[in-house]
Amino acid sequence: MLLKGLLTVLPLLGRLRGAAGDLLSDIENALANATDCASCHALLLPLQTLAHLGNAAFVDTIVALCDASGLEDPDVCQGAIGLEGPILAHDLRQISALGQTATKFCDAVFGLCDPPPVNAFAVPFPRAAPAHPRTFKSTGRPPFQVVHISDVHIDRFYTVGSEANCTKPICCRNFADQSGAPSEPAGPNGNAHCDSPVVLADSLLEATEQFAPDAAFTLFTGDVVEGAVWLVNETEVTNDLAAFNAEMAAKLKGPIFPAIGNHDSVPVNSFPRNTTVTTIGSQFVFDTQSAGWAQFIGAAAAAEVDHNSGSYSVVVSGMNLRIISVNTQYWYKQNFWVYDSDTQQPDPNGLLAFMVQELQAAEDAGQRAFIIGHMPMGKEDALNDQSNYYNQITQRYKNTIAAQFFGHSHKDQFEIAYSDFNDQTAETATSIAIIAPALTPTSGNPAFKIYDIDPDTFEIMDARVYITNITAPDFQTSAPQWELFYSARETYGPLVTPPLPASAPLDAAFWHNLTEVFAANDTAFQMFNTFLSRGGDVQPCDDDCKTVTICDMRALRAENNCDNPTPGLMFKRDGNGAEPPVSESDACEGHGTAHILKALVSRSQNDHAQNFARVRRSDRVPRSVLQD
Ligand SMILES: *[C@@H]1O[C@H](CO)[C@@H](O)[C@H](O)[C@H]1NC(C)=O
Ligand SMILES: *[C@@H]1O[C@H](CO)[C@@H](O)[C@H](O)[C@H]1NC(C)=O
Ligand SMILES: *[C@@H]1O[C@H](CO)[C@@H](O)[C@H](O)[C@H]1NC(C)=O
Ligand SMILES: *[C@@H]1O[C@H](CO)[C@@H](O)[C@H](O)[C@H]1NC(C)=O
Ligand SMILES: *[C@@H]1O[C@H](CO)[C@@H](O)[C@H](O)[C@H]1NC(C)=O
Ligand SMILES: *[C@@H]1O[C@H](CO)[C@@H](O)[C@H](O)[C@H]1NC(C)=O
Ligand SMILES: *[C@@H]1O[C@H](CO)[C@@H](O)[C@H](O)[C@H]1NC(C)=O
Repeated sequence: MLLKGLLTVLPLLGRLRGAAGDLLSDIENALANATDCASCHALLLPLQTLAHLGNAAFVDTIVALCDASGLEDPDVCQGAIGLEGPILAHDLRQISALGQTATKFCDAVFGLCDPPPVNAFAVPFPRAAPAHPRTFKSTGRPPFQVVHISDVHIDRFYTVGSEANCTKPICCRNFADQSGAPSEPAGPNGNAHCDSPVVLADSLLEATEQFAPDAAFTLFTGDVVEGAVWLVNETEVTNDLAAFNAEMAAKLKGPIFPAIGNHDSVPVNSFPRNTTVTTIGSQFVFDTQSAGWAQFIGAAAAAEVDHNSGSYSVVVSGMNLRIISVNTQYWYKQNFWVYDSDTQQPDPNGLLAFMVQELQAAEDAGQRAFIIGHMPMGKEDALNDQSNYYNQITQRYKNTIAAQFFGHSHKDQFEIAYSDFNDQTAETATSIAIIAPALTPTSGNPAFKIYDIDPDTFEIMDARVYITNITAPDFQTSAPQWELFYSARETYGPLVTPPLPASAPLDAAFWHNLTEVFAANDTAFQMFNTFLSRGGDVQPCDDDCKTVTICDMRALRAENNCDNPTPGLMFKRDGNGAEPPVSESDACEGHGTAHILKALVSRSQNDHAQNFARVRRSDRVPRSVLQD
């Protein structure tokens, strides 16, 4: 029933009448039938036919489906699909509907296939691991401080007094279709339904100087741009990136080492591989950040940003430490450009090779290394292939890599890599990735981290989380107040057996032992669960959730995570109208086209017997899902 009548609202398709009539009912049936991986492959056949009619026909049809579903406001449907739809249409024109790339497409775009088994690929290394690797010993000198901020998502169109309780993915803007007095006027300092106002971001930068005045440097793991993914354009993104670079330069004393996030391009997540010929490029991002970051990372590294798809490597002045910043977006499931060829490309744009080159240089020079990037490599939204290859690099250079730092999930988390993922113990735990929570208040209280780092080993000695409490009574009436939320060493150190000695680092073995504590001690685990969202918007986590959460802590290699979103059911509610669980990967992607298409397949089934087009406003995607 879904598409009956759509022909009348689709002037463009008027000229395709006849063949298009059949095509539209084919798509309608295939959408309704898409319940598993095989039927998703079948759905791609009519979608390919549509894609061959051109980007405009493809976009208009998907927009009409989105409009008819009532899942998002019309401007969101039009904007998000208008921007991202051409990439999907491009993919569908290039690939076989039945091949492995199509399976990956069905996983990423519709949530209907499991990722295919990892394609074996041995990352080439210039030299085998040394038989007697250099060891790094602490001389007991006092640690230095490093600040870690992430996912600032600054909305430069944030408007005080605008509607904070809107029906769009983010609120607190004067949207064109807004009418009447706001039911909840946006306050000056931010709102859980909205991305960060500039004052909140400024206050974050000032707070880092307040709590770590002598910080050696700041890590920023990406996502400058706000989540209005249906409105962004190149002018806005360029301005947003440049403005935050200027603000960091003005407010932070120490060096800054940034990384590129998936929101820092147009459309969102769009980073075409260098094998793709397209007019939708992301070189403007690399040009902008190369120019803006030169003052932080130096001219040579800035040139690498420009020529290395946003990645660079730099030795910290006066330290035996190399920082390697990688643009993780070529390994990201929601970067739809990676589905435009049936030929598997193990190392898009040569960024894994770049990591190897830089880690080898660090090993040769007797340096330790930090890897920084936006997306942690263990989540369901990391491509299993590239995560596996990345892990090979992590294992080869485990003696060189002191720690890895990411953002993207908006949560306060960690992920552990093992030399043997089938035998996960403190002894096999080889690398630790620390994930900084977000500034944006959309999934908990705004936060940042300060690490204590040993100056000889560059191991993490402590990780402290600082927050501002957006539900505190005076949050809107004075400048945001920041406070220490917890210290990982003080809070977790005494819980492991034996209690963490004063001189021992928070290394991978420690974090592994902590996961054992979480498994055995639910009080400790629930404390972690509260910390995840910094005490705000805490989501209950029962035994099943806990099992998945602990599994994921032990899965810096994505094929080992236990994320298993039920295909196509993300938006289904139970018979009592209860809200579906919020997918974490959804929080990272924002409300782009995959979000809509995943909902469409489930809606299509849900409402098969009803008139899809008459989904009432009250039946919209629940607020909590939209907000995350
Ligand atoms: C959808 O499924 C029904 C029943 O299983 C089948 O009759 C129909 O041919 C299928 N349609 C498509 C487009 O696959
Ligand atoms: C938000 O808006 C909905 C209707 O759109 C209304 O029912 C609800 O009461 C509003 N909430 C607040 C806090 O104003
Ligand atoms: C780009 O976005 C900005 C901010 O929304 C808007 O003011 C501007 O008109 C847009 N430019 C184009 C070319 O659409
Ligand atoms: C893409 O990047 C890789 C790695 O830098 C390089 O070897 C290859 O030549 C590039 N391909 C194109 C088409 O630019
Ligand atoms: C934030 O403030 C509210 C209101 O005072 C309080 O209930 C809540 O516990 C605070 N949250 C944190 C994490 O301190
Ligand atoms: C981890 O736990 C084991 C015992 O289960 C212990 O021998 C080891 O010292 C612990 N390691 C750390 C770093 O806490
Ligand atoms: C469990 O963890 C809590 C901290 O969350 C701690 O106070 C308690 O002593 C732990 N229980 C055991 C049996 O170790």
